[in-house]
Amino acid sequence: MRISAICAGVALCLGTFASPTFSQDLAERLAEADPEAGAKQFRQCKACHTVESGGPNRVGPNLYGVIGAPVASVDGFKYSSALQDHGGNWDVERLDAFLENPRKSVPRTRMTFRGLSDASDRASVIAYLNTQSDTPIAFTSDEAEEGDKPAEAASADFGQLFVADGVEETYYTCTACHSEMIVAQQGKTRDHWKKLMVWMVEEQGMNELPEDELNVILDYLAAHYNTDRPNFPKR
Ligand code: HEC
Ligand code: HEC
Repeated sequence: MRISAICAGVALCLGTFASPTFSQDLAERLAEADPEAGAKQFRQCKACHTVESGGPNRVGPNLYGVIGAPVASVDGFKYSSALQDHGGNWDVERLDAFLENPRKSVPRTRMTFRGLSDASDRASVIAYLNTQSDTPIAFTSDEAEEGDKPAEAASADFGQLFVADGVEETYYTCTACHSEMIVAQQGKTRDHWKKLMVWMVEEQGMNELPEDELNVILDYLAAHYNTDRPNFPKR
């Protein structure tokens, strides 16, 4: 549960109710952002965060209703003092900066995520987070809604990973904590990959994946990164 803004005085409350202000650039990105694409990007976050209402805190806090909420306000989550000192609310501008490079935006934050360097990816994630809220804010202008949907990232970049069914799930899940290279250079049987995933959950703080998603990833890894390493280096 997120502690709603408890205001000690009117002045402190103002930030909470002020209408969202954000730069032209971000406004444009948000107007074009696709929450469904954001849901896919969010796979990277799922290693450490739940987002559904009432979801548990994991390595990171539950993110339901985070947009517009006071920074570091999830009840029962032990935040770093760095993030607590960041103060204020998660308006979209600040969230955009945090997601781009968490450690540049909030030095000494405990969020060890390397960041989303792609500006439109960040907008998608913000748009998705905005759907996970009792009080979503409006950032699509009427004009933007009439316009065409942005073209689906035709040739998404999966780095060193071989592009085939399951690459998307694998890439986003695994690059939350380390480069895809650490995955691509391995060759293991499906069984060994499965054991590694158990280790990743039990020892490395990864959230347990839903069965169907785990199977997609294991099928992908077993097909392309088996003991003969058919796709390393990438073909
Ligand atoms: C490797 C784990 C990890 C990953 C991956 C990760 N986070 Fe976090 N996140 C954290 C931790 C830990 C904190 C608390 C940071 C602190 O206290 O300094 C946090 C804090 C946050 C906060 C502030 C929440 C609040 O209540 O103030 C937001 C927003 C957030 N993360 C969003 C994201 C999004 C979006 C992604 C994916 C694009 C992501 N995180 C990926 C670990 C992670
Ligand atoms: C929550 C963070 C996290 C996530 C998510 C994660 N890993 Fe890891 N992984 C680690 C850590 C920590 C290590 C050990 C430190 C290192 O080598 O960087 C590691 C190491 C590895 C290694 C090297 C193991 C060895 O024998 O040295 C492989 C392979 C690997 N991970 C595969 C994956 C795959 C595949 C995924 C996605 C399905 C994944 N990881 C997702 C945290 C994570």
